[in-house]
Amino acid sequence: DLNPSALMRQTLLGMSRNDQLRQVIEKAPFSRDVVHRFVGGATTEEALRVATELVDTHRLVTVDYLGEDTVDPQMAEHTRDAYLEILARMAEAGLTQDGTVEVSLKLSALGQALGRDGNKIALDNARAICQAAANVGTTVTLDMEDHTTTDLTLSVLHDLRQDWPWVGAVLQSYLYRTEQDCRDLATEGSRVRLCKGTYKEPESVAFQDKTDVDKSYVRCLKILMEGDGYPMVATHDPRLVEIATVLADKADRDADSFEFQMLLGIRPEEQLRLAAIGAKMRVYVPYGDEWYGYLMRRMAERPANLGFFLRGLATK
Ligand code: FDA
Repeated sequence: DLNPSALMRQTLLGMSRNDQLRQVIEKAPFSRDVVHRFVGGATTEEALRVATELVDTHRLVTVDYLGEDTVDPQMAEHTRDAYLEILARMAEAGLTQDGTVEVSLKLSALGQALGRDGNKIALDNARAICQAAANVGTTVTLDMEDHTTTDLTLSVLHDLRQDWPWVGAVLQSYLYRTEQDCRDLATEGSRVRLCKGTYKEPESVAFQDKTDVDKSYVRCLKILMEGDGYPMVATHDPRLVEIATVLADKADRDADSFEFQMLLGIRPEEQLRLAAIGAKMRVYVPYGDEWYGYLMRRMAERPANLGFFLRGLATK
């Protein structure tokens, strides 16, 4: 009983995990221009430039080195080193103090899926990145991937927070479990990035209906705003941005005790508007060569993004 847009979403999410298609599309000559809007470049240099522009326009930044589902330990080390490099470069450019530019990590890119030792490999790599972030005065947030990894990611979060209490996590309102996870994490010093969730999840673990996902988002946000942690409101949804403002006000929070977050290239005018009224506004900047999975998930979320992509194809 899928409607056309749900069908499109399922198809694109299926494509996001298709390795052959990835190889074709990543190497196609049109790709560079088309991805440019949503990806902050292929290199550290380009990401640094995009981050500087955002900071110059009163926005905070979190950078994400693209890559997921890493299948060999060397790739995981390469990803770790990319983070160490960008942290060093951002610090040299004076962008890391007080968390102005922080980093977001996917544990699967750091080795989480590498068999029996995967979690330990990912944890060790994440530790190296957290230490480097601490050295330059900034923070780290763990992205959340599909539901089969939620418990593992939260246990890595727990371990990392023993040494670096500011390590943040992403929670996804489409999962039934998330209200409880919000309760558990709404504590002093805890940074929680709440999003709707972007993976294809079964009915046994996740709301399927958009309205239910949105309602869950509001319940989760209320818990976070009323709690003692630091809520990070990651959504482009105008209604949820409005509700976040009201909930923060009701909970007597001042403007710097929570922040809004959006993805690079999505609703940039709204990002600037929020920054101009004194809200903290952070932009998620993915960069690197492995943009395929990321871009496909953005297409699945919004047909207009798909149109943009296809127009790029047609004109090349
Ligand atoms: P949704 O896609 O439902 O859109 C709601 C409304 O927002 C639309 O009706 C429209 O009004 C507006 N809107 C959305 N896109 C627009 C566009 N391109 N132009 C204009 N208006 C637009 N997911 C995950 O599973 N794990 C993770 O770790 C993360 N991390 C993450 C970090 C950050 C900072 C963000 C912002 C998001 C994530 N996500 C994520 C992705 C998240 O789960 C979700 O898929 C997207 O943010 C899209 O959901 P929205 O909340 O924007 O609402």
